[in-house]
Amino acid sequence: MSEPTPDLRYQLPDPTLRIGGKYRRAHEGATYESINPATEQRVSVIAAAGPADVDEAVSAARRQVDGGAWSRVSGAERGRILTRAADLIEADAQTLAALEAVEMGKLFHDSVEGDIPAAAAAFRHFAGWADKVTGTTALLPDFGPQRRFGYTIRQPLGVLGAILPWNNPVLIAAWKLAPALAAGCSAVVKPAEDAALSTLRLAELLAEAGLPDGVLNVVPGLGPVAGAALAAHPGIDKISFTGSYRVGRGIQSLAGDSFRKVTLELGGKAPQLVFDDADLELAMPWIAMGNFYHQGQVCAAGTRVLAHESVVDQVTEGLIEAARQATIGDPFLPMSTMGAIVNARQTEQILRYIEIGRGEGATLLAGGRRLDRPGYFIEPTVFRTTNDHTIAKEEIFGPVASVISFKTTDEAVQLANATKYGLNAMVYTSDLSRAVSVTERLRVGTVWVNGWGVPDPSLPWGGRAASGIGRELGRSGIEGDTEEKTVHIGL
Ligand code: NAI
Ligand code: MG
Repeated sequence: MSEPTPDLRYQLPDPTLRIGGKYRRAHEGATYESINPATEQRVSVIAAAGPADVDEAVSAARRQVDGGAWSRVSGAERGRILTRAADLIEADAQTLAALEAVEMGKLFHDSVEGDIPAAAAAFRHFAGWADKVTGTTALLPDFGPQRRFGYTIRQPLGVLGAILPWNNPVLIAAWKLAPALAAGCSAVVKPAEDAALSTLRLAELLAEAGLPDGVLNVVPGLGPVAGAALAAHPGIDKISFTGSYRVGRGIQSLAGDSFRKVTLELGGKAPQLVFDDADLELAMPWIAMGNFYHQGQVCAAGTRVLAHESVVDQVTEGLIEAARQATIGDPFLPMSTMGAIVNARQTEQILRYIEIGRGEGATLLAGGRRLDRPGYFIEPTVFRTTNDHTIAKEEIFGPVASVISFKTTDEAVQLANATKYGLNAMVYTSDLSRAVSVTERLRVGTVWVNGWGVPDPSLPWGGRAASGIGRELGRSGIEGDTEEKTVHIGL
């Protein structure tokens, strides 16, 4: 069990642009307010970067990889720094989690026990890669009179521009930064408006771990200003974005025009396929968690529950029961099982979707209301729908489950794939052959069989179709932060 009282002795940074290892104000003096969504009170004032600030941050990062101190640090030493960072993140879990809770309403104990150790694990994993990013060798056939030998080297890609979402700020920052820093890249990070403070704290910890000033720069600010300036900056070698489909599409077309590398993780509408032979006692908590964890504000949320007609009533009952048992409230209370919705806009959007569901004739079976108290709290909500209801098609990013019935395995697969998204899917069955064959047919980046959870840093993570392009994490993740160069040597 984590400590119920957060460590708030931490002095919030002010001002909050972090460039070249120093905090400073925005050139134009712009700021915005960070609001605690559980109280609607102000947490702090955040400096809002403009194009000139982003430009300075990119220059600082560029200097480090273009012959600066960082470009001369060995892989082994980068690994040591990242390992130290992992230890510092773990030791600082209470502060990081408290910042996430006050800024965006995530349960404090979920961050302490989940996001923060997982972020540390990502740094530890990629620390191990830092001196193992190697190329290949080949004995080439003679070319005319000349014998030839060839090999490849992997070099750091350069400067990573990372645009972060607010839902798992420390964890997703770690997923982008750990492989990039291990590979020898530098970075400019634009945290989400609703979650800048924990990212700044993370940057302080990385500095304490030994990262030279300027390798990691943090430019909080508004998406259309700071985010757009970063995405368009010619000094960036790669943009890694996690967020909405709409913004991701814009970043993709910008990157296309400039031949910039890009990874996009754009969320989804993941199916949870529950077959008639599923062990429901085992499956039900995962199915519920896939819908209600972090108030449903998870890219991997499994909000389309596709259940075989013989178990659909049981699954629906299970979800209703899980909704009834939820304790919604103060993110710092150990008894809370659901915290706040990130902000007013997301709250309105979720409530609008619930209204659309009702209006289209989906059957509301549990929840559906905002709590009548200060702060943004929405009841866990369960609908019976078809796959064609708007609420079963669009990413709501709130605690709203759609239960859909199917008759055959083919129909289940067809429904699962009938979506513009393709991030992940869950398959619940006791039949190993079915698990493997259904998994093969799902058009997604990741399948969880008999469970729901969090990506592991040792394996790739990313989506297909409207869920994005590219892979983060695992070998693909670190290789994606390098350029491969091929060398032919005439002997
Ligand atoms: P968003 O896509 O607007 O924000 C994500 C990040 O992009 C933030 O840092 C934001 O400042 C930045 N951004 C916004 N406009 C930009 C622009 N023109 N150029 C560059 N960067 C820009 O997402 P938002 O508004 O926070 O949430 C809206 C919806 O997005 C959610 O309801 C959810 O469906 C989806 N989403 C998906 C996430 C995922 O994990 N894949 C995470 C967060 C949101
Ligand atoms: Mg906030």
